[in-house]
Amino acid sequence: MPCEDWGDSRVSEDGHIFTPEMIFTIFLLVQTALLYFILTHRSRSKREPPLDKGLIPWLGHALEFGKDASKFLNRMKLKHGNIFTVRAAGRYVTVLLDPHSYDAVINDTDCLDFTRYAQVLMDRIFNLRLPDHHMDKAKDMMKKQFMGMNVASLNNTVSRHLQALVKAEIPQNQKDWKEHGLFDFSYSLLFKAGYLTLFGGEQNNNSSDPSFVYEEYKKFDGLLTKMARGTLNREEKRTTQRVQKRLLELLAPAGLAEDSGSSPWLHSYRRLLQEEGADEDTQGKAILMQVWATQGNVGPAAFWLLGYLLTNPAALSAVKKEFSQISQMEPSETPLSDRLMNTPVFGSALEEALRLSAAPFITREVLQEKTLHMADGQEYLLRKGDRMCLFPFISPQMDPEIYHEPQKYKYDRFLNEDGSVKKDFYKAGRRLKYYTMPWGAGTNGCVGKQFAINTIRQFVYMVLMNYDLELCDPNAQMPEVNASRYGFGMLQPESDLLVRYKSRNAH
Ligand code: HEM
Ligand SMILES: *[C@@H]1O[C@H](CO)[C@@H](O)[C@H](O)[C@H]1NC(C)=O
Ligand SMILES: *[C@@H]1O[C@H](CO)[C@@H](O)[C@H](O)[C@H]1NC(C)=O
Ligand SMILES: *[C@@H]1O[C@H](CO)[C@@H](O)[C@H](O)[C@H]1NC(C)=O
Ligand SMILES: *[C@@H]1O[C@H](CO)[C@@H](O)[C@H](O)[C@H]1NC(C)=O
Ligand SMILES: *[C@@H]1O[C@H](CO)[C@@H](O)[C@H](O)[C@H]1NC(C)=O
Repeated sequence: MPCEDWGDSRVSEDGHIFTPEMIFTIFLLVQTALLYFILTHRSRSKREPPLDKGLIPWLGHALEFGKDASKFLNRMKLKHGNIFTVRAAGRYVTVLLDPHSYDAVINDTDCLDFTRYAQVLMDRIFNLRLPDHHMDKAKDMMKKQFMGMNVASLNNTVSRHLQALVKAEIPQNQKDWKEHGLFDFSYSLLFKAGYLTLFGGEQNNNSSDPSFVYEEYKKFDGLLTKMARGTLNREEKRTTQRVQKRLLELLAPAGLAEDSGSSPWLHSYRRLLQEEGADEDTQGKAILMQVWATQGNVGPAAFWLLGYLLTNPAALSAVKKEFSQISQMEPSETPLSDRLMNTPVFGSALEEALRLSAAPFITREVLQEKTLHMADGQEYLLRKGDRMCLFPFISPQMDPEIYHEPQKYKYDRFLNEDGSVKKDFYKAGRRLKYYTMPWGAGTNGCVGKQFAINTIRQFVYMVLMNYDLELCDPNAQMPEVNASRYGFGMLQPESDLLVRYKSRNAH
């Protein structure tokens, strides 16, 4: 989730022609900014982290932050060290980049609040306001459904949908190679499988075909970062409204009728919303938010994993070898999800892909003044009303002190010599508790982690074991990252990676 708060500033990122209206807007903006500057002029006390306000009044570092947060924060880290406060669009954000000190933030749920900022985003992206206690109840409900025993039935449902969808995409009798972008291939199949599993199989209603939902969702996804930052231009605002309206129509039946094919989780979630007195419109928006939370990251994660495997032959053959041992070991009547229990090589290959491509901000609102104790013995004062932000992508995940050649994909980084899971990683001579954090951490960590891993594992197994899948250009490299998405969970590629596939049985 993003840290920076862009207010409702109207600064167009690709500033086109200035209409008189825009000039007036800019005039007002400058006036407001000056006033704001005078009112919020802030200096640093010795007990606070280094403060970097940037050159532009009020806006501060907002533009650089939004363009490529990773590059910007790396620059600040070189300048100030592992903790510093930056100004972005009138807000002060304290960024902490020392993984040994992360617990001090993650553990303190009294002074540092998760919900408040989540609500700001909910309002910005989904135009949704829910009562305070809603989040906690919804989360308990999700924990019950996505952790523990209930995962087994979700496992089987998602596996069934995946098999049908992959079969439809690559028919058994397809003899010729079919070319496709790997990102779109992975995202669309996993989105549809996940959507059918959780939100319902209203397949008999043409307009709710998951393909339509996916197409609309992709448009929404492309505008999401701008929604969160409040930097949509007028045209984009209109598009957003149209797409959201369409999605709400498509989602309208989800979780309502008992025979709609929705998961038990969605039925209880609907009931919770109804009990809280949410009207139909609000219910729809809340369900759209859940589509985002549950479907937005899995497809992109599967893309990075498959992409890294295809561009690293040794990794691909190691994962295939592990999978084929499983397929030979046990009778094929056992459901796939039960056979895929112990897969350390796959686990390491996935962990490594996520290390390179999961880049969420872990954001907390400072509710009351707090002294932050760093692992190195330093102490800093955090101001009430500021925002606190961890960015594990820079450290631990891309930290050269922890990972040798951090830019490189090495599928066995998370394996010991004896093939067991490696959990010992060090920085400054001390063992790390958090050596990679794709799922967040603490009480606000991802509740869907197990389910997401199971789903990706089944998808990769299916695609690698039953189909021929290869790069169109054997020398192709992984595409660049879309730098505007740092902070929003899984990264997405700037361009797609072209692959081709066919059924293995076809001759
Ligand atoms: C590869 C896939 C996924 C990744 C990388 C991912 C990552 C994350 C991260 C980083 C957070 C924590 C944010 C924070 O601490 O501020 C989070 C929260 C959450 N995730 Fe996931 N997630 C994934 C898939 C899923 C799935 C499949 C589900 C549900 C079935 C899910 C449900 C949630 C929920 C409900 C929360 C909010 C927890 C709270 O309210 O405290 N996620 N996820
Ligand atoms: C944070 O909480 C965990 C578990 O509750 C505990 O093991 C750890 O020592 C705590 N860390 C700090 C810095 O308070
Ligand atoms: C679901 O399937 C995965 C394998 O894909 C397995 O590791 C996991 O234990 C299964 N969960 C349950 C509760 O059966
Ligand atoms: C779905 O649409 C197709 C053509 O667009 C039509 O032939 C079919 O009958 C429709 N199915 C349902 C259940 O409405
Ligand atoms: C990069 O991501 C942003 C935000 O999601 C999107 O608007 C933009 O189109 C993406 N760029 C490319 C080349 O896909
Ligand atoms: C199909 O879904 C749309 C959108 O929710 C709904 O308006 C329509 O009544 C549904 N049609 C049928 C036949 O269920």
